[in-house]
Amino acid sequence: MHALNRSDIIDDGRAVALAWRDGTVARFHAVWLRDNALDPETRAPSNGQRLITVLDIPADIRIAAARVEPNGDLWLRFAPGGKEATFPAGWLADRIYDAPHERTSGWIAPGLECWDRSLEGRLAQIAYADAVDDRAALCGWLAAVRRHGLAVMSGVPCEDGAVCRVAELFGHVRETNYGRLFDVRSEVDPVNLAYTNLGLQAHTDNPYRDPVPTLQLLACLQNSVEGGESILLDGFNAAARLRAEAPEAFALLTRHCARFEYAGAKGVRLRARRPLIELAPDGALVAVRFNSRSAAPFVDIPYEEMAAYYNAYRRFAEIIERPDMAIEFKMAPGDLVLFDNTRVLHARTAFSGAGARWLQGCYADKDGLLSTLDAFESEVGAARALE
Ligand code: FE2
Repeated sequence: MHALNRSDIIDDGRAVALAWRDGTVARFHAVWLRDNALDPETRAPSNGQRLITVLDIPADIRIAAARVEPNGDLWLRFAPGGKEATFPAGWLADRIYDAPHERTSGWIAPGLECWDRSLEGRLAQIAYADAVDDRAALCGWLAAVRRHGLAVMSGVPCEDGAVCRVAELFGHVRETNYGRLFDVRSEVDPVNLAYTNLGLQAHTDNPYRDPVPTLQLLACLQNSVEGGESILLDGFNAAARLRAEAPEAFALLTRHCARFEYAGAKGVRLRARRPLIELAPDGALVAVRFNSRSAAPFVDIPYEEMAAYYNAYRRFAEIIERPDMAIEFKMAPGDLVLFDNTRVLHARTAFSGAGARWLQGCYADKDGLLSTLDAFESEVGAARALE
């Protein structure tokens, strides 16, 4: 385990420099340590919620005394006020911020893996019955959604609403103006074989909502048409390619907001103003929005940059269309796909012939999925630590 072997008060008490026995060194500010003290007056023992605000911390907070305890933890006394606090060495080691923060290496979060067509044979798959009965198997499947932004399930009951039951295995259905679930149902007129159901360009759903639904589930109840293959691709990989091939185009799409809107029945008017490629202030990739059908006129881009913006938009769309980007498969009744709607774009090839195609979908959110996964992984970690 981590243990400290040295602590030195620096910068006139505004910080402390720590050295661990494994050679790690890091500085922590007095204000940061006071804010994050672990004692019961600072953090509620029952739920871990902070009981102080930043205004409870003296603006001139200092570390008056510091020492390494015999077990390798850190003991401090703050001034003014004389508050004492102890920090486990491992807890501090997990929260070091005194390290180079590289925008370039950290722009795609650790643990996410960009993918292209080569994912086709490696797609995470689970049977519905296993997802219901085996929590470890379910969480392994959810971990694939966290890593790749998608996973597939087979053997889902071909019943109205089964798609919602899958969402409830790990979280909550996000109800929208489309209802708790929606039908994607097309029937081809058997007496008119010339009739073709058009393909759909790759897109993310509902970019006109703010926030967008972060997960989508699509279950297949019927698919006897010719064509109608499902196409999925990694929008983060498309953004990464754009960034590598045309950095200025990437910068334009991240710097300016696009607009999306939807006007539906019963007075539904939805609007959002967000970039096609959204970055956090430190440059980390947050989300991709791409949907030609619901893009509204762009009015937030200066006249001088509009032509270049359209060129960048076109370039991004061309990357999205590249055949090596996407996986393609035909959903059979009982198949379900779960994907991250802030990352993965979906499309459908055209279909024709006699028969019917009926998918049922619902939205959910990543917070529930990640919470289920985190709770499971913490339990597994705690059990391992006891072994
Ligand atoms: Fe869609």
